[in-house]
Amino acid sequence: MYKKPGRNPGVGINFHHHFAGDILRNIDQIDFIEVFTEKFFIKENDETLSKILENIPLVLHGLDLSIGSTGPLKIEYLDNLRSLLAGINFEWFSDHISLTHENNFEVGHLMPVQFSEENVSKISIKAKEVASLTDRPFLLENITYYYPIPGQSMAEESFISSILESADCGMLLDVNNLYINSKNHGYDPIKFLSKIPVDRVVEIHIAGGSFKHGMLVDTHANSVSTEVWDLFDEVCNRVPFNGVIIERDSNLDRLEDLIDEVNIAKKIMKNNGIYKSNI
Ligand SMILES: [Fe+2]
Repeated sequence: MYKKPGRNPGVGINFHHHFAGDILRNIDQIDFIEVFTEKFFIKENDETLSKILENIPLVLHGLDLSIGSTGPLKIEYLDNLRSLLAGINFEWFSDHISLTHENNFEVGHLMPVQFSEENVSKISIKAKEVASLTDRPFLLENITYYYPIPGQSMAEESFISSILESADCGMLLDVNNLYINSKNHGYDPIKFLSKIPVDRVVEIHIAGGSFKHGMLVDTHANSVSTEVWDLFDEVCNRVPFNGVIIERDSNLDRLEDLIDEVNIAKKIMKNNGIYKSNI
């Protein structure tokens, strides 16, 4: 039976190797940190990251589980994940409702999967398998898609809801992805929130996108837009989440820019009376 974590870690950032020293110097402003799961598979000794983890809680975020692939989960990936989860202290772990490889072909990107009952069944069986590796919550994240996938039989919100319910797992709600999809596919993001099981949302992602090829694109390469902050404000009202990560993967010259966004998120949460970091 799915159980939400009892603590509230507040607002954090994703780990940036080249800013690791700056993260340590600003540790009092960051409530928790998200690190790519696969970074730990390499087993390199990262002293600064170890020091960061002595100070603030860790959440793991995977990129390459590829839960939407047609075949089973890769045994080598599961073995790596199993030994990592047994050997590290973390609050929860997550990956995306997507595929990154198919029939040994590496896509190199998070690809959307067809919204169908067949995929709900396949993905939820695999999500249960992953969740059974540990007693900490496993979350699945909504991703962006830039075209309607041919032959799909379900709406996005029913697809995500059905997976969460039948896998009995948590959700990582990416507010920027929700905003981008709502714009590119012409739907109301607030109505979307009313149709998903928001009690299952544990983590929130906030990021900046870009406008490319006549569409909004999830690039993690810009500051967060006013529209996404406004949507986050609505999310604070409607979704009982446990923590927020500000995601930025490129185009970042100073960590201070990310810290500024951490403080904006904290301010919005405080205005909604929900900022309760215990750090
Ligand atoms: Fe995200």
